[in-house]
Amino acid sequence: MRQLLPDPAAEVDLAAVYGGARRVGSGGRPWVAANVVASLDGSAVVGGRTAGLSSPADRELFDLLRSLADVVLVGAATVRVEGYGPARGADGPPIAVVSRSLALDWDGPLFTAARAPTVVITCAAADPVLRQRAEDAAEVVVAGEERVDVARAIAELGRRGARTLLCEGGPCLLGEVVATGDLDEMCITVAPLAVGGSGPRVAVGPAPVEALAFRLVSMLEDGHSLFLRYLRQH
Ligand SMILES: NC(=O)c1ccc[n+]([C@@H]2O[C@H](COP(=O)([O-])OP(=O)(O)OC[C@H]3O[C@@H](n4cnc5c(N)ncnc54)[C@H](OP(=O)(O)O)[C@@H]3O)[C@@H](O)[C@H]2O)c1
Repeated sequence: MRQLLPDPAAEVDLAAVYGGARRVGSGGRPWVAANVVASLDGSAVVGGRTAGLSSPADRELFDLLRSLADVVLVGAATVRVEGYGPARGADGPPIAVVSRSLALDWDGPLFTAARAPTVVITCAAADPVLRQRAEDAAEVVVAGEERVDVARAIAELGRRGARTLLCEGGPCLLGEVVATGDLDEMCITVAPLAVGGSGPRVAVGPAPVEALAFRLVSMLEDGHSLFLRYLRQH
C-alpha cells in the first residue's frame, strides 16, 4: 500500500496512519467512526454483498480499524447477509447489532463463540419472547420505543464504557448514524469497479439537518483501490 496524502510514501505503516489519531467524542459521547467500501459508481454492494468490492488491503484495514474500536456497531441486515461472527483476535471488540425484529441466529457463532459478549441494541416495541431469547444470548440495550434511537444507543454504549465506536454499516444503519450528526470519522474504500445495478449508496435514509462536512486526512492506494480517511470538520 502506498500513501498519496498527506506525504507521498512508497510504503506505509497502516497502524501508524490510522492508529496515531486521538479519538475523543464530543460532549461525553464516544468517538464515532465508520468504515465502508463503495464502487466507483457509488454502489455499496456487488451481487448483494460487499465481498466483490473488497481486496486483501481492504480486509487488512477492516481488521486494523476493528482493533482500534471498543465496539463495532452494525445493522442486523448486514449481520444476516454477510454472516457476521465475532471479531477475530484476542483484542477483537464486541459486535453490537441494531435490530427491531430480533430475527437473528441465536445459535450462530456471533452469539455462541464471542469472547467479548455480543450486544443487541433494540427498542421497547420488540417482540418480548425474542427479547428474552436475546437476553439469554447477548447483552441487551433498549434504546427507543418503536425503533432504536441511534443517538441514544451511541450514548448508552458510551455510558457502558465504550470510547470509540466503529460503524460498519449497512447503508440503513449508517444513514441513521449520519442523521444523528454524531459521525466523527469516515473511512471509505473506493473500489476500482463500476458495478451498475440498483445497489444502495453506503448511507441511505433520513438526512441530517445539515450535511456533515469532513476534511481529508489521508489517502492510500493499493491495487487501484483508494483508502480515504476523513475527519469531521466542525
Ligand atoms: N459497502 C459497505 O461498506 C457495506 C457495509 C455493510 C453492509 N453492506 C451491504 O449492505 C446490505 C445491508 O444493509 P442494509 O442497509 O440493507 O441494512 P443494515 O443497515 O445492515 O441493517 C438494517 C437493519 O438494522 C436494523 N435497524 C437499523 N436501524 C434501526 C433502528 N433505528 N431501529 C431498529 N432497527 C434498526 C433493522 O433490523 P431488523 O430488520 O432486524 O429489525 C434493519 O432492518 C448488505 O447487502 C450488505 O452486504 C455494505
